[in-house]
Amino acid sequence: MSINAYLFGAVNRQLEELLHASGARTVAFPLDALAGLAAQPPPPTDVMIVDLRGRSAVPADVALIKRQHPLLGIVIVASSLDPVMMLEAMRSGVTEFVTEPVSSADLGAAIDRVMAQQPARDPGQVVAFIGGKGGVGTTTLAVNVATAIGRSVPSSTLLIDLHVGTGDAALFVGAEPRFSVADALENVQRLDDAFLRSLVGRTKFGLDLLASSDRGMMGPVDVRAVRTLIECAARHYPCVVLDVPHADPSMLDALELATTIVVVANQELSAVRGASRMAAALRQRYGRDRVAIVVSRYDTVAEIGRKEIERVMGSPIAQVFPSDYRLALGALNVGRPLVLDNHNKLAASFATFARGLTSNASSEPAVETGRSNGLFGRFGRT
Ligand SMILES: Nc1ncnc2c1ncn2[C@@H]1O[C@H](COP(=O)(O)OP(=O)(O)O)[C@@H](O)[C@H]1O
Ligand SMILES: [Mg+2]
Repeated sequence: MSINAYLFGAVNRQLEELLHASGARTVAFPLDALAGLAAQPPPPTDVMIVDLRGRSAVPADVALIKRQHPLLGIVIVASSLDPVMMLEAMRSGVTEFVTEPVSSADLGAAIDRVMAQQPARDPGQVVAFIGGKGGVGTTTLAVNVATAIGRSVPSSTLLIDLHVGTGDAALFVGAEPRFSVADALENVQRLDDAFLRSLVGRTKFGLDLLASSDRGMMGPVDVRAVRTLIECAARHYPCVVLDVPHADPSMLDALELATTIVVVANQELSAVRGASRMAAALRQRYGRDRVAIVVSRYDTVAEIGRKEIERVMGSPIAQVFPSDYRLALGALNVGRPLVLDNHNKLAASFATFARGLTSNASSEPAVETGRSNGLFGRFGRT
């Protein structure tokens, strides 16, 4: 997740540049915009940075804001460790005070400390996509659904490509991230919000991505590490989408936190059979309500139709996605998910599915575990 920061009274571009370099999104305001903030609802930002360099007093508005919005993290940047100003800051309830020369490390550490004081959020939705066999369109679906969910609120959705050394999700979104899921899994003991943020890549359209690696992993994938990664991601992102390799049993064991597991079939007999076995195993392991079945590349005149697939699966199909190879391939070749250009049936079906996931997520009551009920629970019941 990238941090959203409000920056007040910046005396030059330095703070903004340091924040951008660390992956934060900033909105800049003049210092006098602090007045009035206390009277408003809590601003939609993770942290406020108040640049007081060249000044000798902490504006009274800072104390008012802190009193009205005690959970809002505030960092003051000052010219020096002036004892009078530090005392004023502390009286205002501000504990983070960064002085010149301001470094990226000092600013980042202060932000991490104020973020750590904020209460933990409920874990976000985790939607896992897994194919009945390779080539059915799982990555296409995962990428488009993640893009559709993430585009309204930038950095609200993280797509993790769990094909550690063989994934191609980054190609679908035209990204070439420097770090990968292998870096996360190999350093899982260090995995916290800040470390995750440093590994995650951005796309132009708001989706964050933890991509597969070109180099593979040193050693086998540890299921506990995958679980820890998913847990960390779900703590920090309202929505996490997983592109799960179908042939790796350790990945299937790591999906406890998934709110919905979407098994993808197409109309080939082998894919239907594979999806049926996969869905049965996943239902047994994680409960019926959490597993949804969809059909990708759906052809209305194909020999195996919706009814036959439902019979084999023993449950209704949550959604079919029409076949449009030219469109799917064209989008892949330019690295732009086709759901962004919503004027064809395939894009509309991705958008509808994404809407179903998010609208159910906000309306379904939490169950005893504290996790939201399966997003597509109604589809899993027969
Ligand atoms: N709805 C669709 N209609 C036609 N072709 C599709 C569709 N979805 C995906 N494809 C194509 O199928 C191929 C495999 O898709 P991909 O998403 O990589 O599958 P998987 O992840 O299951 O291996 C790609 O060439 C892709 O463009
Ligand atoms: Mg794939």
